[in-house]
Amino acid sequence: PLMLLAWALIGYLLGSIPFGLVVTRAMGIGDPRQIGSGNIGATNVLRTGSKAAGALTLLLDGAKGAVAVLLARVFAGEDAVQIAALGAFLGHCFPVWLGFRGGKGVATFLGIVLAIAWPVGLLCCAAWAGTVALTRISSMGALVAAGASTVISVIAGYASIAVLCLVLTLLVFWRHGANIARLRAGTEPRIGQKG
Ligand code: G3P
Repeated sequence: PLMLLAWALIGYLLGSIPFGLVVTRAMGIGDPRQIGSGNIGATNVLRTGSKAAGALTLLLDGAKGAVAVLLARVFAGEDAVQIAALGAFLGHCFPVWLGFRGGKGVATFLGIVLAIAWPVGLLCCAAWAGTVALTRISSMGALVAAGASTVISVIAGYASIAVLCLVLTLLVFWRHGANIARLRAGTEPRIGQKG
């Protein structure tokens, strides 16, 4: 139990690194919290106008979730993996460094699932990419990918992560409350539009 708590904390600390801010600061472009949705995630970093910054944020926010999973797997075993994953996701959404005001967890979610069970992760990425290609709405891709993840995990033969997927999905939906309201109102911006 103490070991699991330690892995939750390690995951949390990794997840709490706000790469959206790190990247935009390092590149000397605006603070994503001041523009668009105000979110620190890749979608809103893209609204600074820098595709490189958006891509880098997506990659690094995903990587921190994957790293948390892989470290736990190598050093502690499968028991610790899901705890570290949940820790990383919560760290991204509620980083202590930013007064617990973090992101919406989509990139970190995808990185986690890719590292835990790559076939499930790939299918979730495909669901995200396919939805975004059709709608040009990032949050729609996020909701579809997360929403499908539990079913995908069961169908793909990874039922042991179904509960984790469900918990992460509920958290993703919760973090997208404002997006869901805009989607219902028909005012959610498409990628490439001002937020
Ligand atoms: O990853 C968050 C994305 O789904 C929505 O971002 O900035 O449009 O709220 P944003």
